[in-house]
Amino acid sequence: MDERQRLFFALVPDSDARAAMEDTQARLPGHIGRGVRPENLHLTLAFIGAADADLAGCLQTQAEKVESPAFRFGLDRLGQFARSGVLWLGSGERSEPLLRLVRELNNALEPCGFRPEHRPFAPHVTLMRKVRRRIRLPEVDVIEWKVSEFVLMQSIAIEGGVRYQAVARYPMTAGV
Ligand code: 2AM
Repeated sequence: MDERQRLFFALVPDSDARAAMEDTQARLPGHIGRGVRPENLHLTLAFIGAADADLAGCLQTQAEKVESPAFRFGLDRLGQFARSGVLWLGSGERSEPLLRLVRELNNALEPCGFRPEHRPFAPHVTLMRKVRRRIRLPEVDVIEWKVSEFVLMQSIAIEGGVRYQAVARYPMTAGV
């Protein structure tokens, strides 16, 4: 049996931001794809994939070294990654604190053998998957997200989908 965990680092919304994301999701036509379950909403910072216990240990030790102030992040637009069928919630503004956090995390994880993606980081919260055509995307009200920690998450396959479980949490320093 494969003992490895499927891991990724993410931002997980607080209850206010999650509720607002859910509202936005509810305004989308349901038949166009498969909605991400509200408890699964997140923003991926670094995708690791299958990790054995050694790698998981290294990731956790190295992530402790990341220093980031807490920050606010505004989500204000919907978009689609047409090829992967993802409909997402994202931001029209570059968030320097978010980009810095990802850079620091990528650097910290390097000794574990982690290689960041070549594609530029595109911060997004996936609201729907399997969206197979372009749709007219509604305007959204700005969602203000107070980011005060990042999380190492495990993705667990369950019947009909996945469940995410926090493996370790990394609080940020005061800053918002
Ligand atoms: P997505 O929401 O854009 O699909 C857990 O699977 C998280 O990791 C998801 O948020 C998913 O992003 C992201 N993810 C899954 N596979 C990935 C990959 N090969 N590269 C980068 N991110 C990935």
